[in-house]
Amino acid sequence: MQQKARAFAPATVANLCCGFDILGVAVEKPGDVVTVTMIDQPGVFINNIVGDAGRLPRQVNKNTCSVAVQSYLQAVDRTDVGVAVELFKYLPLGSGMGSSAASAVAALVAVNQLFGNPLSKLELLPHAVEAERIACGSAHADNVAPSLLGGFVLVRGYQPLDVATVPTGLDLFVGLIHPHIELKTEDSRKVLKPMVTLREAITQNGNVAGLVLGLVTDNAPLIGRSLRDVFAEPYRSDFIPGFEHAKKAAIAEGALGFGISGSGPSLFVLATSDAFARQGAQAVQEAFNSVQLSSDVFVSKVNQQGAFVLHDSGN
Ligand code: HSE
Repeated sequence: MQQKARAFAPATVANLCCGFDILGVAVEKPGDVVTVTMIDQPGVFINNIVGDAGRLPRQVNKNTCSVAVQSYLQAVDRTDVGVAVELFKYLPLGSGMGSSAASAVAALVAVNQLFGNPLSKLELLPHAVEAERIACGSAHADNVAPSLLGGFVLVRGYQPLDVATVPTGLDLFVGLIHPHIELKTEDSRKVLKPMVTLREAITQNGNVAGLVLGLVTDNAPLIGRSLRDVFAEPYRSDFIPGFEHAKKAAIAEGALGFGISGSGPSLFVLATSDAFARQGAQAVQEAFNSVQLSSDVFVSKVNQQGAFVLHDSGN
């Protein structure tokens, strides 16, 4: 058996506007890296966390990596062994970029490698969802599923968990704009209305269908028209200074669509070229600048691979 393994898991844009809790897409970068090492003492241990300024929980039952690894060890019936976890945190916390999900997914892909990959990626998914429940108070899969599998992913159902990749022949690009404010998913979910009207459900359903159909049939304008959200954006956008201005500017600069990434405060643009994604993201950054809010921009292609084992020696 291997003694050590390392894996990378990418950031994700959950919801994709209309697909609240059911759609997400992975980006190429940034992402988190986790190293797991076999140790003599049975149990799961957090050895080190780099890059979180000491803010993530070190308690094994509260940290997304260790919760995922514990759940995995139970599934493969190896609670007799000892695993030490080291997290290299590159994703900002409370950003809406699937930060907690990426840590859990990287830990699972690494520990699975350690045991010779007895579980498929799909079989790893419930353990990542369990970690998400601990991290955010909600067992949503629209970050963990794309981070694990790559591409656009649909969570068709939760009981039982049923996910499917949405194929597309389009080469799409994502710009993520992370303003330097934090928003906890838990808080961002509290502002949502527990009920929606029939009219809102019809609007949202039409857009989900349009988005999926647009992806499958390579119909970029249909994708663009479908990137709308009446469930969460009307309430969550209040948390994001300059939101309306950013939205107009991104679309004017050629982005196919724009929205809140996951539970925010990061925003995303989806575009048909690297140049449009960069222009759209820059327009959003300028909108943030105009309200004295600094931000970081990440632009990359849609990630088709999802999380993977790292074989080099860097972090
Ligand atoms: N679907 C989740 C939400 C994603 O919007 O609350 C959290 O990143």
